[in-house]
Amino acid sequence: MDLYEHQARQLFAEHGIVVPRAEVTDSPKRAREIARRLGGRVVVKAQVKTGGRGKAGGVKLAADPAAAELTARQILGMDIKGHTVGTVMLAQPVDVAEEFYVSYVLDRAAGRFLAIASAQGGTEIEEVAATRPEAVARVPVDPAEGVTSATAARIAEAAGLPPQTVDVLVRLWEVLTREDALLVEVNPLVRTGDGRIMALDGKVTLDDNARFRHALWGGEDSADADPLEAAAATKGLHYVKLDGEVGVIGNGAGLVMSTLDAVAGCGARPANFLDIGGGASAQVMADGLSVVLSDPAVRSVLVNVFGGITACDAVADGIVRALDAVRPTKPLVVRLDGNNAARGRAVLEARAHPLVEQATTMDGAAGRAARLATTT
Ligand SMILES: Nc1ncnc2c1ncn2[C@@H]1O[C@H](COP(=O)(O)OP(=O)(O)OP(=O)(O)O)[C@@H](O)[C@H]1O
Ligand SMILES: [Mg+2]
Repeated sequence: MDLYEHQARQLFAEHGIVVPRAEVTDSPKRAREIARRLGGRVVVKAQVKTGGRGKAGGVKLAADPAAAELTARQILGMDIKGHTVGTVMLAQPVDVAEEFYVSYVLDRAAGRFLAIASAQGGTEIEEVAATRPEAVARVPVDPAEGVTSATAARIAEAAGLPPQTVDVLVRLWEVLTREDALLVEVNPLVRTGDGRIMALDGKVTLDDNARFRHALWGGEDSADADPLEAAAATKGLHYVKLDGEVGVIGNGAGLVMSTLDAVAGCGARPANFLDIGGGASAQVMADGLSVVLSDPAVRSVLVNVFGGITACDAVADGIVRALDAVRPTKPLVVRLDGNNAARGRAVLEARAHPLVEQATTMDGAAGRAARLATTT
């Protein structure tokens, strides 16, 4: 899960990294009050989960509270790289003498972390990295060792950062490890005119697998999540929205992936990925069907189940119960194979639902579902 800048800076502050005073709002009127509280002049910053906000006009200096209100009005509702600005953060302006870039990122291929740092931070960092890669230091970090003061000193030296940044580098590592983040980035980390080191912008990606350890993370950010994915998540389903018209439900991620390929191979496009898992119950099948059928783009549904631990007759019972609960309006093609497949097929035959047909092979089922989706 990516955090907003204002959430990232809060984590930084909790770990002792100095950040400018700031407040968040979705109202231009409140922006004026906040600016007054912060001393009049403020930086107004779009809160969207993408970089390059400054270049897109989403970071602006306002000279006084009236200007802050006007600027907030301009920035709220703005589209930045496909993200609509719903809130702005107003921050006290800082007298910037130098801008640095620092980040820690998980390097999966190497099985460790990577510290990336540069004395040429700021909004042009991508340009710097592309044209003068020697200005960006990359220092591997052994996860078992972590970033000690000695490691931090090595990172600072490699990047040409002043010695005062060593303490921030250690604290930023603590943010990464204690908060279970996969990425922490500060750009810019600045040296102010009076010699203080402050984080003016922050990006943090938390590891979703650690969610259970952080009750306060709360739900997924509904403004950014696809509504169907959000609905599926509340039901504990592994669902990913795709662009096509054939709804896909299967058990086991591998089987579902192959099913997506089979649908594509038949000239249609899958509308989603949905893995109902190994021990899929009738309830899970009903939940899955209701999510897939509520996608207006879906024109047919392909249920592809290979009975292993779960017997096909249990899955068929689930489908029958789901049909009664969900009342589909779109055709379903069901392919059952594996453990108790014959019994499962018999259950569906007995129910004889007019919108449900069965297929015996995966390719046959995919072909039929694709035809139904492209011709009906
Ligand atoms: N509180 C502040 N005081 C002074 N200058 C600031 C402040 N906040 C941001 N800036 C300036 O605005 C620039 C852009 O802001 P920021 O880095 O937050 O947005 P961004 O464009 O999204 O960043 P990035 O390019 O890292 O994605 C900073 O590099 C800095 O020079
Ligand atoms: Mg930045």
